[in-house]
Amino acid sequence: MKYLLVAGARPNFMKIAPIYRAFSTEANGHKLLLVHTGQHYGASMSGDFFRDLGIPQPDINLEVGSGSHADQTARIMMAFEPVCLEHRPDWVIVVGDVNSTIACTLTAKKLGIQVAHVEAGLRSQDMSMPEEINRLCTDAISDLLFTTDTMADENLRKEGVPAQKIHFVGNTMIDTLRQQIGRAVELPLPEGLEAGDYAVLTLHRPSNVDSHESLAPLVAAINAVAQRIPIIFPVHPRTLTRLNGIKIDPGIRPVEPMSYLPFLGLVARARMVLTDSGGIQEETTVLGIPCLTMRRNTERPITCEIGTNILVGTDPARIVQEANTVLDGHMRSYAIPENWDGHAAERIVKVLVNQQARSASQS
Ligand code: UD1
Repeated sequence: MKYLLVAGARPNFMKIAPIYRAFSTEANGHKLLLVHTGQHYGASMSGDFFRDLGIPQPDINLEVGSGSHADQTARIMMAFEPVCLEHRPDWVIVVGDVNSTIACTLTAKKLGIQVAHVEAGLRSQDMSMPEEINRLCTDAISDLLFTTDTMADENLRKEGVPAQKIHFVGNTMIDTLRQQIGRAVELPLPEGLEAGDYAVLTLHRPSNVDSHESLAPLVAAINAVAQRIPIIFPVHPRTLTRLNGIKIDPGIRPVEPMSYLPFLGLVARARMVLTDSGGIQEETTVLGIPCLTMRRNTERPITCEIGTNILVGTDPARIVQEANTVLDGHMRSYAIPENWDGHAAERIVKVLVNQQARSASQS
């Protein structure tokens, strides 16, 4: 059997690494090729992650780069189609919710190739998010849906997805976290930071950063938080240009985007995280670090329900108030979602291999 495992953007790399590894232990005799679409590129957004995560260079790099949504999605599809035609995989495995996820799913399905979606069923119910459209479309046409939590299973069932397509396996990003955390916390912190005495900030969601009207009030709120605690801010390339002309408090330290290990080490030793990311909501829950998510909704509500995540919205007063509550030492108890145990990728590969054995016995 032949599988193409696809990654395209920064948050995909930690999700594919354990799948890549599980294939070598659980899927003897099966062939796996690694495809990088090139949606993210350069050392800080891509190359360093392969090194940190110990995954080999991709077998195929489509090198599509940046563009508008239509342009980027179309270019990934045009570049991925000849790869599918040449390699004729039995399965394409996609992860997450980025443009590469939907582009490769559509391409494969139209060639009659089966698709497995890892991290299926997450829903923000917010169709203004490009990722929500990617999630809905990918899940609607994929053959196997691997979920990270039972709320995602429920979302899929409500959409009428047959139960036999859904497999609750856990979270491959957390597999990677559990594997790498020991190394990450051994790394020195950036100069001047003390463990437990700084906050980490990330901001890149288009609805927060693409207009001055949305970004400036958020930065004003964070400036106020910086009066109480130093804040380190690895700046996403999307956000960098939009910060021009916005006053940033000297207590906030903007730095280049960080690769996986230093960033994980930074988050694991922080007092608090302020973010609009998806995956960081999950990582902070596992690490037990309070996370304030500056969005109106989340596709990962389990992190709020039982984890350390608080959905604070984008109102500056609320952000400052919730940050003060955390800094005053009020921390609610939390739990780690079921199956976030470091073995999700093994479960995925077992399902794929068994699936194949079943179809072979039926034919
Ligand atoms: C993408 C994903 C988002 C994910 C985020 C993580 C989609 C729709 N969005 O958003 O879900 O949370 O990645 O980072 O797929 N750029 C660079 N170098 C790069 C990549 C991008 O400089 O390696 C710049 C370019 O100016 C580009 C902009 O960042 O136009 C945005 O990149 P893009 O891939 O379009 O979306 P992200 O905002 O990164």
